[in-house]
Amino acid sequence: MTEQRNVKAFRLGPNGSEVGQIGIGTWAWGDRLVWGYGRGYTDSDLRTAFEISVNRGIQLFDTAELYGFGRSERLLGEFIRAAGARDRVAIATKFAPYPWRLRRNSVVRALLGSLKRLGMEQVELYQIHAPSPLMSLEEMMDGLADCVELGLTRAVGVSNFGPERMRRAYEALARRGVPLASNQVEYSLIERGPERNGLLDLCRELDVTLIAYSPLGMGLLTGKYSAEKPPAGARGRRYPRRLLLNLEPLLERMRAIGAAHGGKTPAQVALNWVIAKGALPIPGAKNARQADENAGAIGWALTGEEVAALDAAADHIQPVN
Ligand SMILES: NC(=O)c1ccc[n+]([C@@H]2O[C@H](COP(=O)([O-])OP(=O)(O)OC[C@H]3O[C@@H](n4cnc5c(N)ncnc54)[C@H](OP(=O)(O)O)[C@@H]3O)[C@@H](O)[C@H]2O)c1
Repeated sequence: MTEQRNVKAFRLGPNGSEVGQIGIGTWAWGDRLVWGYGRGYTDSDLRTAFEISVNRGIQLFDTAELYGFGRSERLLGEFIRAAGARDRVAIATKFAPYPWRLRRNSVVRALLGSLKRLGMEQVELYQIHAPSPLMSLEEMMDGLADCVELGLTRAVGVSNFGPERMRRAYEALARRGVPLASNQVEYSLIERGPERNGLLDLCRELDVTLIAYSPLGMGLLTGKYSAEKPPAGARGRRYPRRLLLNLEPLLERMRAIGAAHGGKTPAQVALNWVIAKGALPIPGAKNARQADENAGAIGWALTGEEVAALDAAADHIQPVN
């Protein structure tokens, strides 16, 4: 059973920077395949999403070399320069574990590529996007530690690592004197694996920040989709009709709890729930309206009873993974 924790700002590692209570995910910034970039939202929508987020005090922007095959990093770099916001943002990006990448220096080379696209000399956080089928974990961690020593990133993390693998990563980095700052995994009211497999507890024990991706269930927890109106494309295929039907009682509970906090929306309740669990949510936003709404997930807190009521309502939902 995971206890509730009140957090003012999450830190990236024991001595790392504070990056606030919430970040922004930029997978959709350039991605056509899953998110339909270019159909329904444009670069100008993304620019305003960025500007609103920064103006509302959001610091952490999460990208990856894989997102839009580099376009997400390029757009983010452009927006930061245009807004003169370099000192107000903390950028996290990721190493793609392509099967042809086998040695630690490919980690350094990949980060140099990301920095070039971002137009920066250093990022706040460099993460391994997922375990590699071929490169050993030790080799990857050495590559990350090299990036820190070269001053290319301030902190390093992993993503999609389960508890046992994360502990090994933590120990391998510790041998190089580098703390493991974060583990980015899927975590939301519809995907509670990190509570069940012990990852959230292990993160707490080792002082590793759990960064929660898809905290809105890829949009499902905003309440705008239903069994009658499922999301289009790859998302629609991922979430079966059964899950969408099961979602309604949870959404009802979220609406009622949001109303009791002066009209918070289901999206804001979903994100506040993640924070209450001690994890840092990075919701995606495609436009100014979404960014503004998501920024309203902080500055207030669910009570312990409300978190328990949401847990109970979410218990009826079958996990996707
Ligand atoms: N490390 C990994 O392997 C991994 C995997 C997945 C994601 N991530 C990271 O996590 C970030 C967030 O995850 P995600 O983008 O998958 O899912 P998410 O944050 O759960 O959902 C984002 C989507 O929900 C909709 N949305 C967002 N805010 C909304 C609002 N206020 N009202 C209505 N709709 C709203 C938008 O899509 P529509 O408008 O089209 O519905 C948006 O693209 C990613 O951008 C990425 O940085 C990492």
